[in-house]
Amino acid sequence: MRSKVSVIGAGNVGATCAQRIVERGYADVVLVDIVEGMPQGKALDMLQAGPVLGYDSRVVGTNSYDDTAGSDIVIITSGVPRKPGMSRDDLLNVNKKIITEVTENVVKRSPRSIIIMVTNPLDAMAQLALKVSGFPRHRVVGMAGVLDTARFRTFLAAELKVSVADVSAHVLGGHGDTMVPLVGSTTVGGVPVSRLMSREKLNRIVQRTRDGGGEIVSLLKTGSAYYAPSAAAVQMAEAILFDRKQILPCAAYLDGEYGIKGLFVGVPVKLGRKGIEKIIKVKLTAAEDAALKKSAAAVKELVDIMGIG
Ligand code: APR
Repeated sequence: MRSKVSVIGAGNVGATCAQRIVERGYADVVLVDIVEGMPQGKALDMLQAGPVLGYDSRVVGTNSYDDTAGSDIVIITSGVPRKPGMSRDDLLNVNKKIITEVTENVVKRSPRSIIIMVTNPLDAMAQLALKVSGFPRHRVVGMAGVLDTARFRTFLAAELKVSVADVSAHVLGGHGDTMVPLVGSTTVGGVPVSRLMSREKLNRIVQRTRDGGGEIVSLLKTGSAYYAPSAAAVQMAEAILFDRKQILPCAAYLDGEYGIKGLFVGVPVKLGRKGIEKIIKVKLTAAEDAALKKSAAAVKELVDIMGIG
C-alpha cells in the first residue's frame, strides 16, 4: 500500500509539494484548502499529468479534513505568505489562528501522523503545532534549514563555478535573520570554503543567504518563494517515508540539547520513519553557539507573544 501524505494549503508551496510527491510516486496525496474548488481543480489537473509522466499516485483536492484521515505525513503550508516589506514576524497573529485550527483538524483524523511545518514564522508555528497537537516532539518538525542550506550551497557553487553537489554545508538556527551558517565546516570537494574565497566574499554570500527569502519576495512582487521551499519540504518527507535516516538541518523542539530548552530551533536531526529519530550534536564555535542562542531567543519572543511558552 502506498503511503498517504496530506498537504494543507493548496497555494504555491502546497501545490508544488503535492506535484513533487506524486510525480515521484512517493505517496498518494490529499490537498486541502479553505478556498472552494481550488484544491479540487489543482488536484485534477495534476492527476491528468499522470499518463504523460507515467505516475499512478492518486491526488485528491478537498475542503474537508475527513479526506485526510490516516495520513502518514501532514505537510502544513496554509497561511498568509509574506508580502514585500512585511517581516516574517508580522505574520504571527494571522497565521497563529490558521495553524491552531488546521492542527486541531489534522490530529483528530491522523493521530499517528508526522507533521512537517512550512508556514512562517516557521519556528514559532512548529511550536504552536506541537502544543496544539499534543504529539511527542519527534513527530513535529519544521522546514527551514534544508531550504536555507540549499540557498547557501547554490550561491557558493555559483561563485566558485562548481556543482552544487560538491558543496557541503549546514545552516542552523532560526529561519530568517537569525540563521546560523556553519561557515567553518563548509567544504567544497572536501576543501574548507575559507581557503577558496576571501572572508569578504564569504560574508556577502552569508548575507545573501540570510536575505534569501526577501530577495525573491521583492522580485516576485506578489507572493513568496515556492520552488525551493517545496523541494526542501519534500526532501524531508522522503527521508521519513523511506526511512532514510538522513541527517538534515530542521527545526526541532530542543529539550536541553545545545543548552536550549523548550524551543524549536534549527539543528541537524536524523529523519526516518519515526520522524526525528535523533538530534545530532555538532561542535559549534563560541560565535556559532552564541548565534544559535540568539536565534532561540528570537523564537522565544514569538512564543511569548503567542502565549504558548
Ligand atoms: N485552512 C486551509 N488553508 C488555508 C487556511 C486555512 N485555515 N487559511 C489559508 N489557507 C490557504 C490559502 O487559501 C492559500 O491557498 O493557504 C494557502 C497559502 O498559499 P499561498 O498564499 O500561495 O502561500 P504560499 O506561497 O504557498 O506560502 C505558504 O509557506 O513558505 C511559507 O511563508 C510561506 O507561510 C507561507 C506558507
